[in-house]
Amino acid sequence: MKLRSVVAATLLVAAVATAQGSHEHHPPAPQEPMGSAPVGALAALPPELRELFRLEMAALQGAMLELLPAVIAGDWGTIGRIAGEIRSGFVLSRRLTEAQREELHRVLPPSFLERDGDFHRLADGLEAAARGRSPELTSFYVYRLVEGCVGCHSRFAQERFPAFAPPAPAHAH
Ligand code: HEC
Repeated sequence: MKLRSVVAATLLVAAVATAQGSHEHHPPAPQEPMGSAPVGALAALPPELRELFRLEMAALQGAMLELLPAVIAGDWGTIGRIAGEIRSGFVLSRRLTEAQREELHRVLPPSFLERDGDFHRLADGLEAAARGRSPELTSFYVYRLVEGCVGCHSRFAQERFPAFAPPAPAHAH
């Protein structure tokens, strides 16, 4: 069972339950402010959890850097290994305590975990492409993975990567 998929599934179920519960009394609140990105999605995490998350990201970046030479050489074994590592996670899934996992469930918005789930499915695709020794599919999934990094960062990591923030209004005070 893939831990992070479990995390995502559990949180989605919890979110749906919450939305349904609140529906009895008043219209469901939107999960995220309309029209504005939840820039501080991780700001609510306790520092040690945020640190683990950053370590996960650093490991992910290392994996992507290792991936490129393997892809351009058709090194299927290495590609498959890296894809498997990306899929099963580096730091978070190995070091999280039960309490920290619950904390993540509570704090991260469902749309964030959905992206995370999609991302891990792309790693599955890459692994299969490597098994099938397909240069085309392998390149395709590498592209999709990069798209996954950029898509999530531009929405949820603007604080860390301010270049993704929308340009400030000309007359802001
Ligand atoms: C589901 C969302 C999501 C995906 C997918 C994602 N990231 Fe991130 N990443 C984040 C967030 C959010 C931060 C900012 C963390 C913070 O501010 O504490 C971040 C931060 C980072 C950082 C900076 C870590 C640090 O030490 O500050 C790196 C490097 C990084 N990501 C690499 C990647 C790479 C490479 C990929 C794709 C292969 C990727 N990320 C995919 C959400 C994501």
